Amino acid sequence: MGQLTNILAKTVKELEDRGREQAGKDPYRLRFHLMPPVGWLNDPNGLCQYRGDYHVFFQYSPSDCQGGLKLWGHYRSPDLLRWEYLGAPLLADTPWDCHGVYSGSALAEGDGLHLYYTGNIKLEDRDYDYIQEGREAWTLHTVSRDGVIFGSKRVALSPRQYPAHYTCHIRDPKVWREGDCLHMIQGGRRRDEKGAVLLYTSRDGETWEFDRELTTREPFGYMWECPDLFSLGDRQVLAFSPQGLTREEYRYQNVYQSGYFLLEKDWREEQTFENFREWDYGFDFYAPQTFQDDRGRRILVGWMGVPDSQEEYTNPLEGGWQHALTVPREVTLEEGRVLQNPVEELEELRGEQHPLSRGQELQLETPSFDLLLKREGQEKDFKLNLAGTEGGCTLTYREGAFRLELDQAAGRGRRLRQARVEGLRELRILADTSALEIYLNGGETVFTTRWYPGQENLRRLLLETEAEGCLWEMDSMIVQGI
Ligand code: FRU
Repeated sequence: MGQLTNILAKTVKELEDRGREQAGKDPYRLRFHLMPPVGWLNDPNGLCQYRGDYHVFFQYSPSDCQGGLKLWGHYRSPDLLRWEYLGAPLLADTPWDCHGVYSGSALAEGDGLHLYYTGNIKLEDRDYDYIQEGREAWTLHTVSRDGVIFGSKRVALSPRQYPAHYTCHIRDPKVWREGDCLHMIQGGRRRDEKGAVLLYTSRDGETWEFDRELTTREPFGYMWECPDLFSLGDRQVLAFSPQGLTREEYRYQNVYQSGYFLLEKDWREEQTFENFREWDYGFDFYAPQTFQDDRGRRILVGWMGVPDSQEEYTNPLEGGWQHALTVPREVTLEEGRVLQNPVEELEELRGEQHPLSRGQELQLETPSFDLLLKREGQEKDFKLNLAGTEGGCTLTYREGAFRLELDQAAGRGRRLRQARVEGLRELRILADTSALEIYLNGGETVFTTRWYPGQENLRRLLLETEAEGCLWEMDSMIVQGI
């Protein structure tokens, strides 16, 4: 370890030691969602299963809970329930990443756990716009044998190797293997303000050749971040987080989006990319990544946050930390529809059970629960109130639209998100101390939001319409080392 690396590692440790108590006392700390030990978290990175263990890395700024210099933090788990925080393995310590260790992915191979990510460099000798010029995105590669300690960083692609019609915004490599060929997909912003993805191939994981560009016929946003390309059943999915879409009444309601095209053909064949579908319609969801585990499941984890939404709505910062990841969600394809559902492991956290029926008011001792409702007349109106006297959340279904409404106190500026749905047959809510993940109709439509119900009140839950249901109080995950 070089001297700079040592100093940075020590600084991270000190920041964590100093902030631990304050973060630990915060009533809004989550019970079954991964959070930063201190400071700021954004995208999930390097998701994989390596030698049996699950690994979740994340964009991490321990020095500033409003975002600062980005590093990678690291969690590991044998079962997606018991987690261990392993520190910050990737620090901003080389000439290629000293302005930020940006997002990337993992390739779990027999010989080691390979990480590919973007090293961010901001030139400071002139007044740059940092779009057309003034920024460098290096694609970097590092390997670990034990999945914990990573070796030296090597350049996989230098900024000079990207196509000339791109701005400086190229990033977030996702790497996967197909036979003896490795593929890499990167997100990008073209000089003509069109978002697109770039594909590279390699035989040895060291030298990469440009393969092709994929984009829509008409511009669909100016930048595509955090791309992903994977098979799901007999189809393929091209996922990314576009920036620059116009807000609509029932879609694209956040400042930036994330979603996918379900491809008609193999990604290498000529086709038009149409019918973009959002992963999530809530206030707080962005930059998800997926991986395939040893059981063959396609698992997605998203960031419960959105960049640049600070002015619209906020999070409390008294605990000295901000943002979290969604629970791991299994993604499946059923009858041409992409479904997302919490991985079944989470059911092990279910504790005391309460039946729930119309008009019944349930007073909860705990802010974290898993609620499942099924309905006969799926087209009928629906209303559920989750409230404390200081704040509340109302969920309604009416005339083909599902609405999530938060009042001022509980939402901190978050008011209304809505999506078109064809009937409401089933509703599942995973509620944590300050987060809600709402899954409709078997996971066809999802809403994720942070919320801040009054802490001194026990939750009041009121179901105003017909539905059969059950609520389980949820235990906490075990997270060591934070
Ligand atoms: C998405 C993103 C990525 C980038 C990272 C930096 O939220 O902007 O494109 O790599 O965050 O933290």
